[in-house]
Amino acid sequence: MSQVALVTGAAQGLGKAIAQSLFNAGFAVALTDADEQSVIAAANEIDSSGERVLALQLNVLEKENFNTALQQTIERFGRVDALVNNAALTLTTPVMEISPEEFDKVIAVNQRGTFFGCQVFGQYFADQGYGRIVNLASLAGQNGGAAAGAHYGSTKGAILAMTKIFARNLAASGVTVNAVAPGPMDLPSVRDLVPADKLEQIINDMIPVQELGDAGFVADMVAKLASRESSFVTGATWDINGGIYMR
Ligand SMILES: NC(=O)c1ccc[n+]([C@@H]2O[C@H](COP(=O)([O-])OP(=O)(O)OC[C@H]3O[C@@H](n4cnc5c(N)ncnc54)[C@H](O)[C@@H]3O)[C@@H](O)[C@H]2O)c1
Repeated sequence: MSQVALVTGAAQGLGKAIAQSLFNAGFAVALTDADEQSVIAAANEIDSSGERVLALQLNVLEKENFNTALQQTIERFGRVDALVNNAALTLTTPVMEISPEEFDKVIAVNQRGTFFGCQVFGQYFADQGYGRIVNLASLAGQNGGAAAGAHYGSTKGAILAMTKIFARNLAASGVTVNAVAPGPMDLPSVRDLVPADKLEQIINDMIPVQELGDAGFVADMVAKLASRESSFVTGATWDINGGIYMR
């Protein structure tokens, strides 16, 4: 029987690419998003037969939504083996112009949402003695990033710390918790947010390999970390940033 994964923010962009990679790797996939109509369409695109996909509304602002989606996925596929915390708000407001309301909103979706995903699924995985959690961090959480906002970068740095905390906490229960930290990807979220001339400048002057990242490649890395074979990797951050940040 297939392994089962749940992805947050899977209606578009990297989340949808991750759902596709997990599906290609043989997983049954629960695609979840706050935007119900779009996530239904994304699931249908990946598997029009609906045999190995499930579309669910999950707003990461609501802890209870994680519990409900977990139960719905178990009802449909029998269990869950992997969670990918991907949902995020990517805003680029200049640092001195970020309002308290906007700051709180980005923290709530990106940081608090990832925390409750780790908490709810981490407990379930620990109880069943097996699980994989992959958190979407970012280059912005390591070096401040190329164009994203200070609130966004702060949440991604926090995700790196919480990945290690949950990894340490859950390691003895058969549960691994890792992060991936992509640099700028060739995705609508990047091309829509960064003006074309500024993006060209970033590619030429800031990215040593002088290209944007490939979402499919990042998605395959996430699927690898979500697989059974990745048992010896935990608390790690896998960098995919074109050489912008080397360590
Ligand atoms: N695009 C990049 O270059 C890049 C780089 C580094 C990291 N990342 C990370 O990858 C992940 C995906 O990025 P993307 O570019 O595909 O973003 P995106 O904005 O294209 O998609 C984000 C998805 O999250 C959903 N979402 C937003 N708020 C939500 C909420 N409260 N509950 C549930 N779903 C919600 C949106 O509806 C959308 O489908 C994010 O965590 C982002 O930080 C992206």
